[in-house]
Amino acid sequence: MSTLTTLSRRRFVGAAGLVAGRMITRPLFGADAPSNKLNIALIGVWGRGLAHYDSLAEENVIALCDVNEKRFPDALKRFPNATTYVDWRKCLDHKGLDAVVICTADHTHAFVANWALNRNLHVYCEKPLAITVNEARTVRANWQSKNGKLATQVGMQRHALQNFNRVRELVRDGVIGDLKAAYAWGNRKIPRAGYLPAEGAPPEGFHYDLWLGPSPLHPYNPGYFSGGPGANCLSWNMFWDFGAGQIGDMGSHTMDLLWNAVDAGLPTSAQAKGEAMNPDVTPVECESHFEHPANDWRGPITVGWYQGGAMPRAPKPYIDLTKISHGAMFSGSKGFLISDFDSRMIVPFGDESDLTYYKPRAKEAVLPPVGHFQKQWFDACRDPGKKTACDFGYSSNMIEQMLLGLVAYRVGKKIQYDGKTGTSPDCPEANQLMGKMYREGWTING
Ligand SMILES: NC(=O)c1ccc[n+]([C@@H]2O[C@H](COP(=O)([O-])OP(=O)(O)OC[C@H]3O[C@@H](n4cnc5c(N)ncnc54)[C@H](O)[C@@H]3O)[C@@H](O)[C@H]2O)c1
Repeated sequence: MSTLTTLSRRRFVGAAGLVAGRMITRPLFGADAPSNKLNIALIGVWGRGLAHYDSLAEENVIALCDVNEKRFPDALKRFPNATTYVDWRKCLDHKGLDAVVICTADHTHAFVANWALNRNLHVYCEKPLAITVNEARTVRANWQSKNGKLATQVGMQRHALQNFNRVRELVRDGVIGDLKAAYAWGNRKIPRAGYLPAEGAPPEGFHYDLWLGPSPLHPYNPGYFSGGPGANCLSWNMFWDFGAGQIGDMGSHTMDLLWNAVDAGLPTSAQAKGEAMNPDVTPVECESHFEHPANDWRGPITVGWYQGGAMPRAPKPYIDLTKISHGAMFSGSKGFLISDFDSRMIVPFGDESDLTYYKPRAKEAVLPPVGHFQKQWFDACRDPGKKTACDFGYSSNMIEQMLLGLVAYRVGKKIQYDGKTGTSPDCPEANQLMGKMYREGWTING
């Protein structure tokens, strides 16, 4: 079979919507054969994009897109056969693409992800998947219509740490009795007063208007672009028009630690409080609380998210939760489980907490390692019947809950939430805040 035929077949799986797995997509000439490589576009080639280079080098990167043309020479050294673009909308129409990796600023993630899904491309999107409730819902709806046919992954790569599934097993297997509540927190604080004032002009080759993309016009200021590689997001992600603050930043990683263990869908209510509302900047200190219905293995639970100094109460005075910068705690009828990203501790309490009720699972039942997080997605691109750890179903629910917390924070009261419609039945003001206005000419679902 020629290279072209094999690639066409793989595209066909997505384009025609056949259930993969029924297609034989394995290589004829070994895993590294050119015929088995994915044709990938990398959108956002510097910063976080750099962290994907080594994995991407094992595939065919045929398109590179960045709003900053100065980033191309180095990227082309690594991926010399790629065509360059400054506008991701044009890049997604590059002929022969199988998949796309999105490393742009947060306010474009849901846009690029939707456009890519609509073009039957497999998608890896850096976290956060969305910055409004409605964005998360649009991506999920598009993903659902392609589920099992397109591979997706959100860049919450800490999920591959073995501790994530150890926490899940312990909670699921009842080490703390019946799960009642779960809390996650992060202590990062990056206070800003407001959008930056106009200063200078974008350097040559930097397409600031494309960087703003769907967001309202804000004057250029080099302060939005002064961070080092992979950390520049900390220069813009706290502004409402460019990100979701800590929810999209470390919050995505930390809530993932909790989310992986509770099997929750969308909440039925949200309530939040924090520092005074700033129309330019998302809150630094804030906490949000959600009610989740029972599922097939547990009763109803509450989930809490705390950021920027807000913290859940420690179960005992001798436990100092503030020593964990980004962590999660699970509260059950017989104890607590406290975790950071790569370790955990169990705090049994009460007369029934002798632990005899808890039976560690057999070795064979221990959840297998996720393995290499990016490569798990590559494998699923080749066989979309394979599951990825943070697909757009799992991840969109998680971020929708977090973003609903920001809506509750803005309206300043407890709201009921109907996850079927994405609306609050008792708070019309909240419904105005589920989405946002985009600049003319930009459509989220193109
Ligand atoms: N998974 C992780 O651990 C992790 C770590 C760091 C950053 N991130 C995420 O990666 C993303 C990028 O963060 P960063 O710090 O690299 O930001 P950044 O501002 O450095 O942007 C990265 C690159 O994308 C380009 N870019 C931005 N908007 C673009 C657009 N619309 N079209 C094409 N190119 C565009 C920039 O010019 C830059 O080269 C953020 O969403 C952030 O949350 C994830």
